[in-house]
Amino acid sequence: MRVTITVNDTEQRHEVEDRTLLVHFLRENCGLTGTNTGCDTTSCGACTVLFDGESVKSCTVLAAQADGHAVTTIEGLSADEELHPVQRAFQERHGLQCGFCTPGMVLASVSLLQENPSPTEREVRDGLEGNLCRCTGYQNIVDSVLTASREEAAR
Ligand code: FES
Ligand code: FES
Repeated sequence: MRVTITVNDTEQRHEVEDRTLLVHFLRENCGLTGTNTGCDTTSCGACTVLFDGESVKSCTVLAAQADGHAVTTIEGLSADEELHPVQRAFQERHGLQCGFCTPGMVLASVSLLQENPSPTEREVRDGLEGNLCRCTGYQNIVDSVLTASREEAAR
C-alpha cells in the first residue's frame, strides 16, 4: 500500500507492506535513524515521536495508521540550526549518557511540557515513566526537563 505522511514538514510518500510499523517507515523509508528501536513491544519509549503533536511510541503505530497525519522526529524538532530548548537543557544538565534513549526522552519531554509547562519533579517522573534509560541516568533527565520548564517560564 502507498502511504503519505508529513514527516518534519516534508511529505513522505512510500510504498510499504500493510504491517510496516511507523518506526520502520521512519528509519528505513525516510532514512531518519534518530528514532531508535529498543524493545519493539511498547515498553521502552526509545521510538517515541510526536504524532499530530502528541507523543506516541512509533513501534505501536502502523505506518498505515499515520497516513495523512504529521509526525515529528528528533531530526525535525528544531526548525533551524539551534537546539530546541529541551535539547539544550539535556545538554546543559547532562541528561544523557550513551544517548540511546535520548531522542525518545526529549520528544516525550516536549509533549509533557506542552501539556504541563510547570511540572513538579513528581509529575516529570510520572510523565516519563514510559521511557526507560538503560544507563539509569534518570536524575539528570528529570533535572533537564525541570530546567527546560524554568527556562521557558523565564522567557
Ligand atoms: S521500541 Fe517502541 S517502546 Fe521500545
Ligand atoms: S542515556 Fe543510555 S539509555 Fe539513556
